[in-house]
Amino acid sequence: MENLDKLKKEALQLIEKAKSLPSLKELEVKFLGRKGQLTTLLRDLKNLPENKRKRAGQDLNILKTELENTFSKKEKTLEKTDMEANLSKEFFDTTYPGAERQTGAIHILSQTQKEVEDIFSQMGFMIVDGPEIESEYYNFEGLNIPADHPARDMQDTFFIEGKPDRKQGRLVLRTHTSPNQVRAMEKYGAPLRMIVPGRVFRNEATDARHEHTFHQVEGMLIDKEISIATLKGIMKEFLSRLFGKEVEVRFRPGYFPFVEPGMELDFSCLLCNGKGCRVCKKTGWVEFMGAGMTHEHVLRAGGVDPKKYQGWAFGFGLERLVMMRYGINDIRYFQGGDLRFINQFK
Ligand code: PHE
Repeated sequence: MENLDKLKKEALQLIEKAKSLPSLKELEVKFLGRKGQLTTLLRDLKNLPENKRKRAGQDLNILKTELENTFSKKEKTLEKTDMEANLSKEFFDTTYPGAERQTGAIHILSQTQKEVEDIFSQMGFMIVDGPEIESEYYNFEGLNIPADHPARDMQDTFFIEGKPDRKQGRLVLRTHTSPNQVRAMEKYGAPLRMIVPGRVFRNEATDARHEHTFHQVEGMLIDKEISIATLKGIMKEFLSRLFGKEVEVRFRPGYFPFVEPGMELDFSCLLCNGKGCRVCKKTGWVEFMGAGMTHEHVLRAGGVDPKKYQGWAFGFGLERLVMMRYGINDIRYFQGGDLRFINQFK
């Protein structure tokens, strides 16, 4: 019994001091393992005289249960401190900002072009594409602008070197999207409802309002009994849908050789709602596009009979529209490649 007390004291002390799970495991083996001290005592019971055996057996089993409980309690405490230690080693700050992933974005001009295409598609217009390198014929002659006509000076042209074709003339970078009026009439005939968005080029000194490369949207509608009233309705509807609010439009006379009568269309200033401000130069109106009833010569160039059909055409600059919409004051930002500008429109 004395030995048993000593054994108990020693075991409890050692367990108490154990600092790690492996050292605790070692102690468990030392006392309770197959060759452990307590196990040995239990095995030796059979050598005791019968009258002492029962009592000693009870005492040993009580001690065994007590040790087992102490071991498992200690094991749990050690496991917990272990976990906490690991946790502080692997500390992860969930509030730390993540690494930003760089993503590309659609350029604001392309975004706007898509919006324009969607609205005109909804109104039954098809979206047509044409070449950026164009012939003098389609860019000028077909549009009623002969070689010696002063109207050629309206658009400073980039010419491409090479021998001129007998019929098509020289090659040019198209100065407007209008050549596609004739191209589309040739290809699709009448009736016709189309827009042509695209890049155009002018040999121009650049400043805040002029760029050598910019974008236009051409529009054309050919059918029977078409008047300028249809154009007014379509443009008012288009601009109102684009800006998401009621927009007014008005016509002023304007000259373009390929329309007769020719006109310019303004829309009511979105900034001041027509009251007059800096953007609309106190007029309440913003100049928007050239338009007019398609000239007979142009209809004929496209193979359309002017006695049966009439129509109108318009052309506007995409950059000016975007500048007006977002308050951008320099056209050179669009192709300047400055990410601070581009990324505003992600
Ligand atoms: N092509 C003309 C320009 O670039 C715009 C326009 C298109 C005018 C269609 C009338 C009709 O200035």
